[in-house]
Amino acid sequence: MSDLNLILIGPPGAGKGTQADRLRQNFGIPFISTGDMLRANVKQGTELGKKAKAYMDSGGLVPDDLIVAMAAQRLEQDDARDGFILDGFPRTTAQAEALDAQLRKLGRTITAALLIDVPDQEVVKRISGRRVCVANGHLYHVDFEPPKQDGICDEDGSELIQRDDDKPEVVQQRLGVYHEKTAPLIAYYDKQGLMRHIDGTGSPDRVHDHLRAAIATALREDDV
Ligand code: AP5
Repeated sequence: MSDLNLILIGPPGAGKGTQADRLRQNFGIPFISTGDMLRANVKQGTELGKKAKAYMDSGGLVPDDLIVAMAAQRLEQDDARDGFILDGFPRTTAQAEALDAQLRKLGRTITAALLIDVPDQEVVKRISGRRVCVANGHLYHVDFEPPKQDGICDEDGSELIQRDDDKPEVVQQRLGVYHEKTAPLIAYYDKQGLMRHIDGTGSPDRVHDHLRAAIATALREDDV
């Protein structure tokens, strides 16, 4: 099989991280989340983290030049040689163009761009109930995917917390930024024949099934 290079697109809280983790387990390729990478930089107090924090806390986008350099470095690591699942990158047309240019240089192509489509009011419900494992980022939802024990991660026993940017006023800002800056990527990838629309409103298992089916179709078309 040739390399499997997937992009997940969707509003904040659509379930990109939830699904990326499942796809990682299915296909054995890394899931690369620019949001997780930025949060790790903030936690470690790196120069990048210091620059990114104010943008993230206000629900805005971190400038393209910082993100493109960070993502480019990650994509060149050995574990991404057979493929990758990008979650939260690209998020602007400039980032998508930079990714295209990098892949061209590496002689690689995008297999599919997968839109997880969820209406804004559902996104707000998902984000307000999200809880994240403080040690390893495992994801839960207080109603839809609750941990066995309140406030404790099933996987490693760590504390579950709410993200700083999951406050209601910041979520509204993030949604606005998504519609203005990221939604245009749907047309961008449509034009290249790469866009697949996935109904993201069902259960995580159902959304996962839709994604698997869309990836299988994209791979078949790739082979023709
Ligand atoms: P990032 O971390 O990428 O946040 P996001 O895109 O806003 O997405 P989320 O992580 O909030 O949601 P998700 O779609 O992964 O949903 P999840 O699976 O957690 O970015 C954060 C910030 O970093 C940005 O605002 C920006 O400042 C900066 N940044 C990052 N990348 C950048 C870039 N490329 N350029 C510039 N700036 C960048 O699910 C949500 C909840 O719903 C969970 O509780 C989950 O359990 C639950 N859930 C999932 N699926 C379902 C389902 N089917 N049914 C019911 N509940 C579900």
